[in-house]
Amino acid sequence: MMHVAVIGSGTMGNGIAHVFAQHGFSVALIDINQSALDKALQTISKNLDRQVTKGTLSEADKTATLGRIQTHTSIADGVRDVQLVVEAATENVDLKLQIFRDLDQHAPQEAILASNTSSISITKIAAVTKRPAQVIGMHFMNPVPVMKLVEVIRGYATSDAVTEQVMDLSRQLSKTPTEVNDYPGFVANRILMPMINEAIISLFEGVAGVEEIDTVMKLGMAHPMGPLQLADFIGLDVCLAILRVLHEGLGNPKYAPCPLLVNMVMAGRLGVKSGEGFYKYT
Ligand code: CAA
Repeated sequence: MMHVAVIGSGTMGNGIAHVFAQHGFSVALIDINQSALDKALQTISKNLDRQVTKGTLSEADKTATLGRIQTHTSIADGVRDVQLVVEAATENVDLKLQIFRDLDQHAPQEAILASNTSSISITKIAAVTKRPAQVIGMHFMNPVPVMKLVEVIRGYATSDAVTEQVMDLSRQLSKTPTEVNDYPGFVANRILMPMINEAIISLFEGVAGVEEIDTVMKLGMAHPMGPLQLADFIGLDVCLAILRVLHEGLGNPKYAPCPLLVNMVMAGRLGVKSGEGFYKYT
C-alpha cells in the first residue's frame, strides 16, 4: 500500500487525506495540535457519511477509509517512510518554506514533496530543498472530495518523471490532473480571481446588488455559485492574498484588488468562516 503524508488538517488537508484514504492509500495526517487532528477526523467521517447516504460508498468502505488514516503531531514521525507528501498548511510563504526545509530533512530521499498552495511559487518552495526536481504543485479544489480537478504545477526544476508520477497518482484518486507551469496564480486562480474581483468592482460601482450579480452568473453562465458567494466560500482574505500575488507578480494594474475587498478584509468580514461576507451565515 502506498504511504502518503498530508501536512495540515484544515479544510483542504482533511479533504486531501479523505480522497487518498478512500482510494486505498495509507495516510499520515499531520498537524501541530491533536485537537485540530481530532476535528479533521470528525469532518472526514461526516463527509464520508454523505457518500454512504447517497449509496456511493458502503459502511465497510467508510470504516476501512478511516482505518487508513493515522494522525501525527510531528513532521519527523509522520513522514518517515512515505513516498509522497502533500503540504496543505496555511497559505503563508515563510511557514511553507520552513515546512519544506523540515520535509527535506525528514522525508525519505526519493519521496516527492508536493504543495497544495493556491498561489505561492513552486520554484521558490523547491529552492529551499536539496531535491527541487522532486518538488511539485498539487492544487486540489474545495470541496476536495467533490471537485474533479488537480492542477499539477511544474516548478522550474521539476522533472518529467515526477510530473508523470503525480499526474498518474491524481488519476488513481479519480481526479483529472491538468499540467500547468509555475507563474503567479497558475491557471485556476489567474482566471478565477479577476472574475471575482470584477464582480466586487461591479458591486462597488453600483452596477448591481449582491444577489443580482450572483444570479446573472449562476443562471446566465451555469456556474454552481455566483462569484460573490464563491468568494465568501473561499474566504475573502484568501481572495485578497491571491490577487496581491497576481498584481505584484504580473505587474499589471488590471489585477489590483477592489478597495471594497480590501476594506471588508480589514473589517474582519472574511465570508463563511467569519459568519459574514457578502452574505450572512448563521
Ligand atoms: N465532501 C463530500 N461531499 C460533499 C462535500 C464534501 N465536503 N460538499 C458537498 N458534497 C456533496 C454533497 O453531498 C452533494 O452530493 P450529491 O449531489 O451527490 O447528493 C454534492 O456535493 C452537492 O452538494 P450540496 O447538495 O450540499 O450543495 P450544492 O449542490 O450547492 O453543491 C458545491 C455544493 C459542490 C460546493 C457547489 O456549490 C460548487 O461546486 N460550488 C463551486 C465550488 C468551486 O468553485 N470550488 C473551487 C473553489 S476555488 C479553490 O478551491 C481553489 C483556490 O485556490 C481558491
